Amino acid sequence: MIPVVDIDIKEEEIKAVKEVVKSKFLIEGKHARAFEKKFSDFTEIKYTTTVVNGTCALHLALVALDIGPRDEVITTPYTFIASSNSILFTGSIPVFVDVDKETYNIDPEKIEEKITERTKAIMPVHIFGNPCDMGAIKDIAEDRNLVIIEDCAQGHGASIKGKHVGNFGEIGCFSFYGTKNLIGGEGGAVVTNNKDLNDKIKSIKNHGRSPEGGYAHYSIGFNYRMTDMAAAIMNVQMNRADEILTKRHYNGDKYRKHLNEIEGLMLQKILPSHKHSDYIMAPLVIKKEIRQEQIIEYLKSKNIGSRSIYSILSYQQPAYLDLSKWHLSQVIDYPDYSRTSCPNAEYIATKHFELPMVTSLTDDSIEYIVEKLQEFFRTN
Ligand SMILES: Cc1ncc(COP(=O)(O)O)c(C=O)c1O
Repeated sequence: MIPVVDIDIKEEEIKAVKEVVKSKFLIEGKHARAFEKKFSDFTEIKYTTTVVNGTCALHLALVALDIGPRDEVITTPYTFIASSNSILFTGSIPVFVDVDKETYNIDPEKIEEKITERTKAIMPVHIFGNPCDMGAIKDIAEDRNLVIIEDCAQGHGASIKGKHVGNFGEIGCFSFYGTKNLIGGEGGAVVTNNKDLNDKIKSIKNHGRSPEGGYAHYSIGFNYRMTDMAAAIMNVQMNRADEILTKRHYNGDKYRKHLNEIEGLMLQKILPSHKHSDYIMAPLVIKKEIRQEQIIEYLKSKNIGSRSIYSILSYQQPAYLDLSKWHLSQVIDYPDYSRTSCPNAEYIATKHFELPMVTSLTDDSIEYIVEKLQEFFRTN
């Protein structure tokens, strides 16, 4: 079976973790500091703060921007549930805006109609690593005095006009979860170009302490520290980032070249001057008669790993049917999503299928996958 997901870990990462364990200094320390520097150099964003995972990164960003009860945050329903959950953690309300049918990303043209006097922020998600239309989103945010938190969890290596994602809002949030382009097992980063905001982020992530340490706590913060074991893996991954991302972009380009020619398939549209991170390759079956499960089953029967992800939109999640049941003590008016409708997101949810997109993918494997898809659409 050609796997949908495969983990790119070499001897160097194993050696790095062993050294940290042997040193007995497992907590956040010099490896985390070194990683922060490397990640800032990589993204060309001034300040990086390591955190324990991408969900905490988003939560921390919202708290640092003073978003809380009674506020509303505009986001997309076609994403991993962590995006909107992080909003709920602060007591603010996720307001879902439909996506563009071609890019799968939040449609800037539909944002304006969802802005109310409570709206404080927009959280665009660069889904699958496809950069959102940040120019249009920034224009709206500036015009309506809103802040932007970019969910870059899937965006390592994605850019717009050569600028890495995470550079376009007040804060960018990354995940280094074990299947992402760059991995730490678990791990996350909060990035910003604003020094004051960075100081606040660094303090809140460490129980409101001063970045210099000590036992004075200046705010009620959290423990969102990354371990030095994860940071040590991340440092090796950063040294290998060029190699890893070049291979992913190579795979992505090869898929796009061949799959674009198949009638019945539609690839995620990448806007001009935008560079995809090539984290996930998930085309849509646009032939009406063909069901998502049918193509996934067909690919599996040919030993090609495939699956659907986010077939349940965030507002359709069972957990969101009655939010008052959960421990969201700060939420004041629980939203009722039963009438929320995002037709484009609903379409994509039922029509996409994921293809293998891993660094170990060979030219022969991609050619085999393309051939099998051509065969499928010729005969169905
Ligand atoms: C779009 C998106 N946002 C947020 C997250 C949360 O990151 P983590 O799993 O590291 O908490 C993820 C990933 O897993 C994600 O894909």
